Amino acid sequence: MRSLILQLALLATCALADDITVYSDAALAAGWENWSWGSVIDFAATDLFEGTSSTSVNSTAYSALSVKLEGTFPNYQGLKFDIAGAQPDLTISISSSVDGTASPNILLSSMSTSITPNAFTSLLIDFRNLPGSGAALGNGTWDRITWQGGGNGAVYHIDNIVVVESIVIPPRFLSAEPIAANTIAVTTQGDVDFTKLSVSLNGKAVKIVNTTSYVPVGTPSKSVTYLTLAAPFAPGALVITAADSTFNFTLPAVQYASIVQQNSYPISPQVYGVNFPTSAQYITDLGVTMSRWGGNAVTAYNPAGQFTNAGNDWFFENRVANPPDADAWLGWVEGAGSESLLTIPALDWVAKDSTSYSYPATVYPGQAKFDSFLPNAGNGLYPNGSYVTPVPPQTNAYTPWNSSMAKAWLKGLAHKPTHVTIDNEMEISSNTHQDMHPVLMSYDEELARVLEYAAMAKEALPGVKVAAPSSCSWWFYWTSSVGYTDNTAHNNIDFLPWFLTQMAAAEKAKGTRLLDYLDIHYYFQPDTSSNNDTAKALRLRMTRSLWDTTYVDESWIGQGVQQNHQWTPTMVSLIPRFRTLIDINYPGTKLSISEFSSTADTDITGGLVTADMLGIFGREKLDSATYWSTPDEMGPVGLAYWLFRGFGTYFGANSAQVNLASPNPDTQGVYAATEGGKLSLVIVNKNPDTPIAFDLANLPFGSYFMRHFGGEAGIAKWQTNIKVDSSTYIVVPAYTAVFLKQN
Ligand SMILES: *[C@@H]1O[C@H](CO)[C@@H](O)[C@H](O)[C@H]1NC(C)=O
Ligand SMILES: *[C@@H]1O[C@H](CO)[C@@H](O)[C@H](O)[C@H]1NC(C)=O
Ligand SMILES: *[C@@H]1O[C@H](CO)[C@@H](O)[C@H](O)[C@H]1NC(C)=O
Ligand SMILES: *[C@@H]1O[C@H](CO)[C@@H](O)[C@H](O)[C@H]1NC(C)=O
Ligand SMILES: *[C@@H]1O[C@H](CO)[C@@H](O)[C@H](O)[C@H]1NC(C)=O
Ligand SMILES: *[C@@H]1O[C@H](CO)[C@@H](O)[C@H](O)[C@H]1NC(C)=O
Ligand SMILES: *[C@@H]1O[C@H](CO)[C@@H](O)[C@H](O)[C@H]1NC(C)=O
Ligand SMILES: *[C@@H]1O[C@H](CO)[C@@H](O)[C@H](O)[C@H]1NC(C)=O
Repeated sequence: MRSLILQLALLATCALADDITVYSDAALAAGWENWSWGSVIDFAATDLFEGTSSTSVNSTAYSALSVKLEGTFPNYQGLKFDIAGAQPDLTISISSSVDGTASPNILLSSMSTSITPNAFTSLLIDFRNLPGSGAALGNGTWDRITWQGGGNGAVYHIDNIVVVESIVIPPRFLSAEPIAANTIAVTTQGDVDFTKLSVSLNGKAVKIVNTTSYVPVGTPSKSVTYLTLAAPFAPGALVITAADSTFNFTLPAVQYASIVQQNSYPISPQVYGVNFPTSAQYITDLGVTMSRWGGNAVTAYNPAGQFTNAGNDWFFENRVANPPDADAWLGWVEGAGSESLLTIPALDWVAKDSTSYSYPATVYPGQAKFDSFLPNAGNGLYPNGSYVTPVPPQTNAYTPWNSSMAKAWLKGLAHKPTHVTIDNEMEISSNTHQDMHPVLMSYDEELARVLEYAAMAKEALPGVKVAAPSSCSWWFYWTSSVGYTDNTAHNNIDFLPWFLTQMAAAEKAKGTRLLDYLDIHYYFQPDTSSNNDTAKALRLRMTRSLWDTTYVDESWIGQGVQQNHQWTPTMVSLIPRFRTLIDINYPGTKLSISEFSSTADTDITGGLVTADMLGIFGREKLDSATYWSTPDEMGPVGLAYWLFRGFGTYFGANSAQVNLASPNPDTQGVYAATEGGKLSLVIVNKNPDTPIAFDLANLPFGSYFMRHFGGEAGIAKWQTNIKVDSSTYIVVPAYTAVFLKQN
């Protein structure tokens, strides 16, 4: 959003005596140590410089320029530096080598997208309002600063690095937006004068009857002031004049809607889940209800040594698992009030140690890529993309594993999971774990593994719920890695429907249910990676693929590439489709989505998409969902969880009926819930620059708790209490998700 860059430009810094110079010329300043890794660094580069020299950096994938102070800089307000390069892909972080804490990741691109190679751009990170997250760095034993390259490395020059003691912020009104019935949310910096603010609607002055300033819990340092107007909003021209800034809005024609609290049904409490929450505090802050231990690496998790293997995500290298101890993890997750979804490895091997790898260069020279941090470890591919042969012996990196060993592990856990999955995306293990399981996974093998491990889990953990088979994507919902010959060999029945029939048959034979949840992973198929305006709009409307039986997917799926025997195969209609498949093939099975993603975790649209999805999950009666991977608590996706569940104020437990006169799911989402007779409401406005407004029949009048994120102020989160005395014109600003709950 523009405000961040704007703000940088507006910040004035004073170089005080107590500023700490990190680098100016020739070498790191006294007291600073070079803690960089995997990078070619010249601290006295003379090809481009200010003063007499600069630092030139060439970092390979994920390596970094990193500097550490002998001592700490606990109470400083900013970091200033000059940088040149072809918009290098860098993530900056401030950390403590004393206690291991770190700032949220700060993307260079969130500060500027116009870094050029031949001239320096001056940047300033304000520790009270970190670029991207708006979070405050806070006091800490800070002593280290890191500029880390992305997957393709980073080449750049950097100069005049200074830790700034004090940033003087000129007073300024940053944004002012209409919200709800008669409230204007204003963000400011510095010591502004509110007597200089006036509001007019359709040319007539409107009185401000209350002004309440507020700094929300946790973030941001930016202060928010809510103005209550004497009159409600109405269609037309709204002009807010504040000192030398004017904020103009065209309030649109109202859309008619009604809410029927009487028509409601329970929302599964398990839909507000994430993978690998970072701490108990995180779980309570965001109201996380389901925590998954999952992903590619857990396939090789060896509980005996707490080792794992990264598979093709990172050169098939073993490492200490992170977090290492599943039992302890289950303990604190449960202690924080979340249910748990533990992945049980179910291939025949797990990591044997924390150091081995499958494809040593000494045995397999001529591979496409080697790990720059561990040059003997290759990626298992030839430069032409085919797998290295012969397949390495599994014993290079692994030790045998089977269901008796899994059973002993589960029985011995001090903290029992509430739910388990049988491995992860097994159908593509010949790719993700080509070293461990080079054979193509067939329908029959996958079923056999689920049957064996599910039966084992039910014995080892009485009462545990089993979720399987955690299929990775639309393509593999319907066929196996073997391909269509496998479908043909199974009467042309698509994989997951076939799997359901087999699990139903297993229940019949055994007399007990082995599969409680059909578990899938869902990743949107349209390509939004360019993140241009078209891609953002597409991202925001493709949530329709979760529920809308008339929405033709805007990807290869919608182009009629037939590889299945599904009805209306160009329309994903994910949740209704799977509910129907379950009803036909194995009634009573629940549906879970243990991986899903916004496709843009650091963009405001990723946060809006996530809020929309959480609303949809409840309304569509999904049974369980866990975000992949861990949303940044201060980032847009974390804010979507905060919106629904933050700090103990929850969206209601029962989904209530919303009737829209003219629904427009491409650009808005409206979700209602009821609990104990109190209404809660989430409205997502997906329009980048126009507010929307509703006439909400049955909206009870009175006091509401309101919170919201997005809008003109960037991704900042805001909350307050408001009064609703009229429900005929409720406004939601552009690119904003708002939560209202009756007090
Ligand atoms: C700083 O560390 C990097 C990475 O370890 C190394 O390549 C570089 O030579 C070091 N520079 C100096 C001046 O010590
Ligand atoms: C950076 O280093 C890589 C090798 O790690 C090399 O291929 C590349 O040419 C270097 N780039 C520059 C600008 O020096
Ligand atoms: C941080 O340190 C400053 C200066 O020592 C102090 O005034 C401030 O209260 C501290 N803030 C917090 C949140 O501890
Ligand atoms: C202004 O609004 C705040 C927050 O809702 C409330 O606590 C306060 O009583 C209001 N003041 C007046 C004068 O209405
Ligand atoms: C906002 O409205 C005022 C008053 O109508 C007008 O003078 C001004 O030009 C408008 N500004 C913008 C940016 O539209
Ligand atoms: C790829 O390269 C390897 C090693 O050079 C070779 O053995 C293999 O035949 C090649 N595969 C293809 C499909 O060209
Ligand atoms: C698992 O391996 C152990 C040790 O080799 C063996 O005793 C046990 O029978 C195996 N269990 C299964 C189910 O194959
Ligand atoms: C913008 O995004 C759309 C959708 O992803 C894409 O088709 C288009 O090529 C992009 N345009 C540019 C100029 O990158």
